Amino acid sequence: MISNGATLLDNHGRPVNYLRLAVTDRCNLRCFYCMPEEGIKYLPKSALLTYEEMERLVRILAGMGVNKVRITGGEPFVRNGLLPFMERIAGIAGIEDLNLTTNGVLTFPYVKELKAMGVRSVNLSLDTLDRARFRVMTRRDELPAVLKTFHQLLDSGIEVKLNMVVMENKNTQDILPMAQLTEIYPVSVRFIEEMPFNGEGVRFGQFTWNYRRILEELITHYPAINKLADGANATAYGYGVPGHKGTMGIIAAYSRSFCGTCNRIRITAQGILKTCLYDDGVLDLRKLLRDGASDGQLEGAFRGAFRSRAKDGFEAEAHRLSQGPVSESMSTIGG
Ligand code: 5AD
Ligand code: SF4
Repeated sequence: MISNGATLLDNHGRPVNYLRLAVTDRCNLRCFYCMPEEGIKYLPKSALLTYEEMERLVRILAGMGVNKVRITGGEPFVRNGLLPFMERIAGIAGIEDLNLTTNGVLTFPYVKELKAMGVRSVNLSLDTLDRARFRVMTRRDELPAVLKTFHQLLDSGIEVKLNMVVMENKNTQDILPMAQLTEIYPVSVRFIEEMPFNGEGVRFGQFTWNYRRILEELITHYPAINKLADGANATAYGYGVPGHKGTMGIIAAYSRSFCGTCNRIRITAQGILKTCLYDDGVLDLRKLLRDGASDGQLEGAFRGAFRSRAKDGFEAEAHRLSQGPVSESMSTIGG
């Protein structure tokens, strides 16, 4: 591959080393903050990048300093052939960290293989521990399957991060039970501000549940809670309570407090490059691939896209070509 070897930098001097790669826009749940009941208009298979196309893009990016890949969706496990694909990604020189975000419904039988291929950490979406509320929030009765996956991950020594989207009138009563998991399990429970990515362009919850309010709620239950040191590119503010096996985190996804150190690149299932969660796509990689672009041309296109990157999610949102509020589903964006 022809690569000038230079680390991918954006126009604000931020090194970009973390790829979030969506392998499908489909999902077997219908979390109401992500998709309407009837689902979103799914892409036809021919519109999705093939595994071969995705592997090629990861190789090119690995040559430019990307060393961490997270597989997202939709729900990654609804796409056939995921495990062999992940194994190939794990084998690419330069990829040091391969992770996965899943809703856990179909994941249980694959946990051992994930461990065997070196997956260190898995993010599991879980908004409540109450079966009835889970059914209301996801429109499916799959909590037992998700909990089975959760325990299997813990048992196999894979680091688990639980993602809970916090919403007024929906699951704020679950903040404490979720936080209590950290008392007995070595798990990281992350509370996420709701974003408007639900396929309908409105936010369901009240703006009142921002990270400050979530923190106040945690302090009420755990006065001894303390701030942990956060990693350089962390999206979560980390918190610990003395004696707990696990930790907590708050992700200000709507307040967008973490943009300044953003090292992330996103590729959607149909091969659209996003330099920010809040932009509406800056480059059609599928077209370049299918028009026969060389590795060098693709590398140049990546570098070019990051030369005009918005400085934060507010600027990216303001620059969207499609007018109107952000409305696509998180399942299309890839999380
Ligand atoms: N707001 C905030 N987080 C969301 N997720 C999905 N949709 C939204 C939304 N509208 C989160 C889920 C999942 C992760 C990939 O994105 O919790 O864990
Ligand atoms: Fe599926 Fe995740 Fe969206 Fe829920 S949030 S519907 S699990 S893609």
